[in-house]
Amino acid sequence: MMTQEAVATLERLTSTVNPSETSVCVIGLGYIGLPTASVLATKGFQVHGMDVRADVVDTINEGRIHIEEPDLDMVVRSAVNSGQLKAGYEPQPADVFMLCVPTPSRPDHSPDLSYVEEASRAIQPHIKRGDLIILESTSPPRTTEDVVVPLAVPPGMKVGEDVFVAHCPERVLPGRILLEVVQNDRVVGGVTPACTEKAEAFYEAFVNGKVLGTSALAAEVTKLVENSYRDVNIAFANELSMLADRLGVDAWEVIELANRHPRVNILTPGPGVGGHCISVDPWFLVHADPEHTPLIRTAREVNDSKPHFVVNHVAELAREFAAPKIGCLGITYKGDVDDLRESPSLEIVQELIKLDVGEVMACDPLISSERFNDFPLHDLETVLDQAHILVLLTDHRAFKKIPRRILEEKVIVDTRGTWR
Ligand SMILES: NC(=O)c1ccc[n+]([C@@H]2O[C@H](COP(=O)([O-])OP(=O)(O)OC[C@H]3O[C@@H](n4cnc5c(N)ncnc54)[C@H](O)[C@@H]3O)[C@@H](O)[C@H]2O)c1
Repeated sequence: MMTQEAVATLERLTSTVNPSETSVCVIGLGYIGLPTASVLATKGFQVHGMDVRADVVDTINEGRIHIEEPDLDMVVRSAVNSGQLKAGYEPQPADVFMLCVPTPSRPDHSPDLSYVEEASRAIQPHIKRGDLIILESTSPPRTTEDVVVPLAVPPGMKVGEDVFVAHCPERVLPGRILLEVVQNDRVVGGVTPACTEKAEAFYEAFVNGKVLGTSALAAEVTKLVENSYRDVNIAFANELSMLADRLGVDAWEVIELANRHPRVNILTPGPGVGGHCISVDPWFLVHADPEHTPLIRTAREVNDSKPHFVVNHVAELAREFAAPKIGCLGITYKGDVDDLRESPSLEIVQELIKLDVGEVMACDPLISSERFNDFPLHDLETVLDQAHILVLLTDHRAFKKIPRRILEEKVIVDTRGTWR
């Protein structure tokens, strides 16, 4: 006689998902939803993407994209042209629903779950027996069970029997999303073991990395722990860079030398920590248990203090000039991405403008003036020609190529160590 475990394994192995017979409704077509929807479409799933923004829906249906991500334009065009991917303003009935909406934090750092709530409510009328609902958005502990289940599962349906709910956090790196959405190992946590199995089978149909099954709560915490780990380690590098500056040593040299120790691997300092993941998600853990997360909170505070340190340093240098022109290179939070969310580079430029310590000439080849009008953006040539002080804030490829002879004529503040 087969053991219960063996029966479960056999069922799991035989319950593979056939993309051509499976429809997916992706809610939220941003940096995560759009690459995911287009990859699923390319793998043969019938995909309906839904977004509340008319410009997003229209752009995608024209086979174009509204975000910067290498090769995504090609994949979306081919998915739309083949008819496998369509976008709309409303959810549609499907076998799988994926919630890829934002989960920002409020000014007091508490999580803002209004997008997850709204998206969960929106799909509820379309859920039928056998459907799988996946929360991909990075979420505070228990969101899947306490927010998605009550709002998305229709009354009378039992989770784990009639309908299946799981959390599968995204861990892609902007700039490599198309590759990583398929290649990364995925943590898939169901509200019940049956939910986990169903979600695992779905991800195994399009992911090449390992699909690691667990509970919804463990998946939620795992994602937050990953980003908190990064934040704490970056905070160490940033604290060290500020300390080194006061001690009068080169932080980059010290880190390079220390990293020659076989068991030391210090990360790279920067102007602060940006993006809506690493600078936001650790707060979800702090919020879940404020008393017992002093290290995570302090790391956040250290990283948040770094932009002010850079501003003070630049202001000090500017005082050496009668009419200083300060060239700020980069306003996005990360090199070669066009994402401005929580960007410390942007914060530094805004603070320098507010302080009025000189003429601030900002430049970012990835941000067009049509999209951004908080302050004027200049082209790189003009900035290199006119600025007395050059502040490297975002390590875009274009800035790495600036000839050394130009840099040698300027006062340099290289927050990323790019020009070392
Ligand atoms: N961007 C990343 O690199 C990354 C990495 C890992 C995890 N995440 C997580 O993934 C989630 C999504 O992030 P993102 O970067 O794709 O955000 P995004 O802002 O780029 O995209 C979200 C999209 O959802 C849409 N939206 C908002 N409310 C909606 C609703 N009720 N119904 C339908 N659409 C709605 C928005 O218009 C937007 O187009 C977040 O929880 C984020 O923390 C992002």
